[in-house]
Amino acid sequence: MSYLEIRGGVPLCGEVKVQGSKNGVLPILAACMLGTGVCVIENCPSIRDVNDTLEIMKMLGCRVEQYAGTVRVDASEVCRYEITAMEAARIRSSVLFLGALLGRMKKAVLPLPGGCAIGARPIDQHLWALAHLGAEFSGETRIVASAEELHGDIVSLPFPSVGATENTILAAVCASGETLIENAAREPEIDELCEFLNCRGARINREENGSIRICGGIPLGPVCYRMKADRIVTGTYLLAAAATGGMVRIVNDDASRLGMLTEVLDQMEVSISCREGAVCLDAQHVSESRVCAVPYLETAPHPGFPTDLQSPLMAALCRARGRSCICEKVFENRFCTADELKKMGAKIEIQGSLAVIDGVAQLHAGTLVPPDLRGGAALVIAALQAKGSTVISDMTYIDRGYEAIERDLARLGADIRRYR
Ligand code: UD1
Repeated sequence: MSYLEIRGGVPLCGEVKVQGSKNGVLPILAACMLGTGVCVIENCPSIRDVNDTLEIMKMLGCRVEQYAGTVRVDASEVCRYEITAMEAARIRSSVLFLGALLGRMKKAVLPLPGGCAIGARPIDQHLWALAHLGAEFSGETRIVASAEELHGDIVSLPFPSVGATENTILAAVCASGETLIENAAREPEIDELCEFLNCRGARINREENGSIRICGGIPLGPVCYRMKADRIVTGTYLLAAAATGGMVRIVNDDASRLGMLTEVLDQMEVSISCREGAVCLDAQHVSESRVCAVPYLETAPHPGFPTDLQSPLMAALCRARGRSCICEKVFENRFCTADELKKMGAKIEIQGSLAVIDGVAQLHAGTLVPPDLRGGAALVIAALQAKGSTVISDMTYIDRGYEAIERDLARLGADIRRYR
């Protein structure tokens, strides 16, 4: 098991290029299963979630090649429609194969995804939306799905679930007729999936009110598509730079996707600007290298503040000047990171879905265990601010979503080392 050692107290300075988007590429890989022709994905992040997804695709019959950030998928010989419990256990987003397999094979068998560290994560909306398109479900311990024919419909999601929106798009693009997804998720990764499918010949539009209109049944062809930068990784590095009083340039070809994070960084009294394909942050002027507290913030579906940056933000606010409050509105168990931060001297009180963080002058080093992917990144941010040498004891979660967090942070001057 590999672990990180970080000696804190160095302000991050310099430039780093951000990897391709994890949450963008996972549904796009599932979408490679549809239509005909080879799909080439460039700037594909080299992370565990991608590797696990590609393993599932190989089991289903895809021919996959990976070389230097590029993945080539040939799905012409896909013959299986069943994902076993062992394959699915590797990665939660295997649930996205439900829409893709239904679209391609009209059948899908998957184990029921369990809850995970950040919450129960039911998939009722996925099933409900796909049933609107003609899918039928049976099976008690696993999802057994089939459709005689998939047809378009109006699908009005009760909550703008990212995964349910993606699964609906994946099935609807193969259905006959038109599908309208009302209250669709607005995360940029959804639009990236639509853009990818449109490059293959599909006709999918995001309407002004946020609904997504899919003209189904159009044959999909080959494509070469380049993934956009990961906005959550960008946010993680910006928050790390802010928390250490640094000055960084994060190369990201589409900084418009940062949404509310820029406003929050403003509130933290950090200078932030987007220019020439990069986000520049300067926190060198903040008093005693301590950012200003954020009095109240809620996580919310896009364009609200992303739940995936809630833990990194909490870590960045542990030494803020004043009291910050964060209300987690999307995933119920996302405050597990607080217990680890408290071991470093952070003053955090959890009251249900509200975290109250009273900034302390100094965090101290310790040995920390990441509770989940973004919680792991948060602990790295805390360690970068702490006095002394911190050990992050297990990289399994962090490696799911960060290509090489130690490589990127070392480029920004951090004293960080991975031991295997
Ligand atoms: C995706 C992202 C994840 C991010 C989340 C919210 C990927 C691979 N993962 O997860 O990083 O944190 O969006 O931006 O893209 N819900 C239901 N029933 C459903 C579906 C969802 O109750 O059928 C609930 C969930 O339990 C959760 C909330 O809705 O509380 C949001 O879930 P959703 O938007 O579906 O997130 P994911 O697609 O799982």
